[in-house]
Amino acid sequence: METVSEKFGTPMPRIGDQAPSFKAVTTQGDIDFPKQYAGKWIILFSHPADFTPVCTSEFMTFASMAKDFERANCQLVGLSVDGLYSHIAWLRTIKEKIEYRGMKNVEVKFPLIEDIKMDVSSLYGMIQPGESSTKAVRAVFYIDPKGTIRTILYYPLSTGRNFEEIYRVLIALQTADAFSVATPADWRPGDEVIVPPPGSCGVAKDRMAGGKGIKCYDWFFCTKKITKQKIFDTIQKKKKTRKKK
Ligand code: BEZ
Repeated sequence: METVSEKFGTPMPRIGDQAPSFKAVTTQGDIDFPKQYAGKWIILFSHPADFTPVCTSEFMTFASMAKDFERANCQLVGLSVDGLYSHIAWLRTIKEKIEYRGMKNVEVKFPLIEDIKMDVSSLYGMIQPGESSTKAVRAVFYIDPKGTIRTILYYPLSTGRNFEEIYRVLIALQTADAFSVATPADWRPGDEVIVPPPGSCGVAKDRMAGGKGIKCYDWFFCTKKITKQKIFDTIQKKKKTRKKK
């Protein structure tokens, strides 16, 4: 009988899987992924093609936010099914010629992988033939400091991503890990977070009675406040301890 991989090709990575490893050539030199970024969060993202307008707007926006991602201990790594010289020429054009929405002289300092043979894009399920068999869709993989995939987002070719949302998800994941909480709809740092469900009838009753800074909408839906300052201080502390290791 055919195996799943024989029938459908390499299975796409899923949330909770170890990030598949690969070596690649990039605009910042060769990389050994994800090994060389161990201890950091990684956002691996693909775009359909160099020298295209939506991708240009995305790269300018992402590169302009690079400092925020760096502060959050997150390495950005881009990819498209183009060659290294195309990448270099496109990034030079962005820096030297394009002014868009108040952004200009934007230098893309994070690595951009060349993937002419589609090795990496196939490994990560970024080629989705119903959309395009020659271009990667707009995929975003969040990989944690232990190399586990924690979130995957996919967008079609025609829709530019919201990079505030991409940043928000990163901080939500880091907050969930640091404080053992979950984050509700439309959460932003400083908003109330959701505490884990009670493990016993006694705890459920205590929670409903109030106190300990916990507010319940019902016994299974309780929240507490964590300030924005505390969240960002904790992220910084974790970044420093990881660097020391
Ligand atoms: C763009 O980035 O503008 C784009 C790329 C591929 C297909 C459609 C749009």
